[in-house]
Amino acid sequence: MKKTTAAVFGLAMLLVALNVQVSGGKPASFSPYVDAKGAITLPADFRGSWAHLGTWALTSAVSAGPELAALSHGTGLHGVYTQPGSLKAYKQTGRWPDGAVLVLEAHSIRWDDLPTGHVMLAGEAAGWWVMVRDGKGRFKDNPTWGDGWGWAFFKGANPGQNASKDCRNDCLGCHAAAPDSAGVFVQGYPALR
Ligand code: HEC
Repeated sequence: MKKTTAAVFGLAMLLVALNVQVSGGKPASFSPYVDAKGAITLPADFRGSWAHLGTWALTSAVSAGPELAALSHGTGLHGVYTQPGSLKAYKQTGRWPDGAVLVLEAHSIRWDDLPTGHVMLAGEAAGWWVMVRDGKGRFKDNPTWGDGWGWAFFKGANPGQNASKDCRNDCLGCHAAAPDSAGVFVQGYPALR
């Protein structure tokens, strides 16, 4: 009996050990876009294979005040994307599952006259803002995590580097005002209706 218990315990520890290791010996994370310390990377594949939730056209300057303007999204066209599985889960449950990623891609606005009329179209990519859902408070010591999400901002010129150091200064002041209790401006996304 004792031997069986020890064997079961040993096997359980082995499974735990296997579970925290991924190829290359790096500790596993709950998301392919988040490392073990909570550093977020910009998903490379979102535009081609993720679901497009909707687009905002922001044509005037920030109204939230100068202290929140620094890392705000700026004027432009803001396309928002999530993984197909996260969209499905949200539609079924009304909640963002752990690991859900929201990417806001901002482009400057260009204008043109086409046979349809005077059109607004996407110009240069200005940057990417990323939210990664974490309902468990996994990274309490990392200031880029708070209010149930990880928060990151990648400038158009430097998509490899998160330019936001503290979500409490850079993001949460505005997102707390969102109608979704999870801090998402859901009213802008036809795909969620
Ligand atoms: C000045 C207020 C303000 C600040 C600061 C701000 N946001 Fe937003 N964010 C908004 C608003 C309003 C929207 C929706 C409308 C839009 O795109 O303009 C939005 C949309 C988003 C979206 C699309 C999902 C959603 O919630 O609708 C993401 C992702 C996002 N923001 C991430 C961030 C991150 C990360 C930061 C900090 C680095 C940040 N935001 C800072 C106001 C803000």
